[in-house]
Amino acid sequence: MRHVAQTSDAPLMLEIEKAEGVYLFDVSGKKYLDLISGISVSNIGHRHPAVLAAIRHQLDRYMHLMVYGEYVQSPQVQLASALSHNLPPSLNSVYFLNSGAEVTEAAMKLAKRISGKSEIIACYHSYHGSTQGALSLNSDEYFKNAFRPLLPDIRFIRFNNEEDLTLITEKTACIFIEPVQGEAGYLPAKKNYLKKLRARTNETGTLLIFDEIQTGFGRSGSLFAFEQYEVIPDMLMLAKGMGGGMPIGALIADRNQMQAFTNDPYLGHITTFGGHPVSCAAALAVLNELTASQLIKEVSAKEAMFRELLSHPFIRSISGRGLMLALEFDSFETNKKIIDRCIEKGLITDWFLFATNKLRISPPLTIIGEQIVWACSVINESISEICQ
Ligand SMILES: Cc1ncc(COP(=O)(O)O)c(C=O)c1O
Repeated sequence: MRHVAQTSDAPLMLEIEKAEGVYLFDVSGKKYLDLISGISVSNIGHRHPAVLAAIRHQLDRYMHLMVYGEYVQSPQVQLASALSHNLPPSLNSVYFLNSGAEVTEAAMKLAKRISGKSEIIACYHSYHGSTQGALSLNSDEYFKNAFRPLLPDIRFIRFNNEEDLTLITEKTACIFIEPVQGEAGYLPAKKNYLKKLRARTNETGTLLIFDEIQTGFGRSGSLFAFEQYEVIPDMLMLAKGMGGGMPIGALIADRNQMQAFTNDPYLGHITTFGGHPVSCAAALAVLNELTASQLIKEVSAKEAMFRELLSHPFIRSISGRGLMLALEFDSFETNKKIIDRCIEKGLITDWFLFATNKLRISPPLTIIGEQIVWACSVINESISEICQ
């Protein structure tokens, strides 16, 4: 506590010695089932053997060589082409970064550079990161106020509200949106809403940017959530689950647009570590595992199990899509007590930044039926102990 900086007065303080699959083990040997994947990162489980093998293989060849883009690094080339082959033809050029917030920063810059406009729209209660540009897209004054001045020309619209689409105009460079809002408490966009949003952005010449940093890599039940909406964004943002536990993010767009970073000014966006070869090797292993296995196909059956087994009368609602689910309680206080009780019983969960009365279910996609049954029984039991 003295030397490692903290961001709250009450960190969980679990000291984990080892992680494997869906389990974490603390220094006393206690075993925890990880229901949040830290957060939505370990989609194929902790220390997946294919990821470990890819990392080891790359470690024996080279680690960091040069700042982004100057050398040909085969792990980047292989990953960029594999991603492109899993995406519509217009999403064919990948800019690698280290984290989600950095992807947001790059997307804002690319949108401004391409459009020549500065107005950016985001949705209320969306979360795109904590750096100053990304924080400017956060609608919550509580989190922003101490850090002003932030970016000018940012406007907010209500998520899933068709009336607010008229606030997108010819002046709007781009709109950022999560197909399933994460920190708002796992709220899926309505299909018709995203279609109308696409139509409106086409009318106004506004770039549509999907933040799939939390929905990506199978979590919503398809490799990327937008596949379920018949809507193709102009830019796609990825991070979190991408690297199987290694830090990596990506901004993906059409090559003609991405080329804008090469001129006026050249070096339009630069990074030392973005696309680190070890992270890229790990990410390729994750993508191969997800596309070759049944994991994504099984997501909706696992979702159905959670929905069926979590039927306690004190749960006000269950929202979400795939293996990103949120249980709503009457208050933060109730929720916090239930979460603490679950952790005592060896089940790790938490709440949401903008929905503190909701409990998060975002386990590794590798979770199996009997683990789901156990997790649900711990949650139901904890609710009963706290609420009755
Ligand atoms: C949807 C979404 N976008 C962006 C981010 C920021 O990612 P990072 O924490 O890697 O900067 C997050 C992190 O929670 C997120 O959920």
